[in-house]
Amino acid sequence: MAVTGILLALFLIVHMLGNLKIFTGETSFDHYAHWLRDIGTPLLPHTWYLWIQRTVLTVAVVAHIVAATVLARRARAARPVRYAHRKKVNGSYAARTMRWGGVIILLFVIYHILDLTTGHLNPQGDASNPYGNVVADFAPERWYVTLFYTLAIVAVGFHLRHGAFSAFRSLGQQTPRGERRARTAALVFAVLLCAGYLVVPFAVLTGLVS
Ligand code: HEM
Repeated sequence: MAVTGILLALFLIVHMLGNLKIFTGETSFDHYAHWLRDIGTPLLPHTWYLWIQRTVLTVAVVAHIVAATVLARRARAARPVRYAHRKKVNGSYAARTMRWGGVIILLFVIYHILDLTTGHLNPQGDASNPYGNVVADFAPERWYVTLFYTLAIVAVGFHLRHGAFSAFRSLGQQTPRGERRARTAALVFAVLLCAGYLVVPFAVLTGLVS
């Protein structure tokens, strides 16, 4: 759970930083997107690195889901008799929404790939012009796309907050002070990541990027 979670979180950080290149202009952003296909050349043929990354990420997502299922089953087996009443709900909102949050994120990623990678669901869908695809996607009249992305990114934020909190707890001191610190660090991490993602669609929506 932890190893695959860290891998996926690293991808999210790098992808968010890459998206911010949209503020450096069309030529620079498109150049960056084309460079992604050339990472590792000439040692690796064109797009090979990208396909290796896609394979690793897919395996990580599947392993993350399998690990979550195994852990959930183990937790249930540890308490075969269910609580008679569950008045007091344990854990934060983020902790309680991990499962459904994960499903929403998975559905979003499938939509997102059909939108901005393959271009099938994008109004422009031009593989040679990712900048134009992003601008066409989040155009003001398509506000509902920005809304959908916002909801998905907030779900990613909740998911990451709980994941990061668990990771920091495992690494840090098991004291109330350590827990407070882990909680704050996880919240800051999730908020920064969400803000880094959301700034792109909102920049297009408001005409800052066009
Ligand atoms: C507003 C936020 C986002 C924007 C503007 C954005 C933008 C993009 C763009 C332009 C691409 C295509 C890159 C290319 O083919 O050159 C892409 C691919 C991708 N994005 Fe995002 N993205 C966003 C959020 C996310 C989130 C939250 C996730 C994960 C939860 C994600 C996961 C992916 C994946 C898996 C790919 C496919 C990469 C590949 O081709 O192998 N993205 N994104």
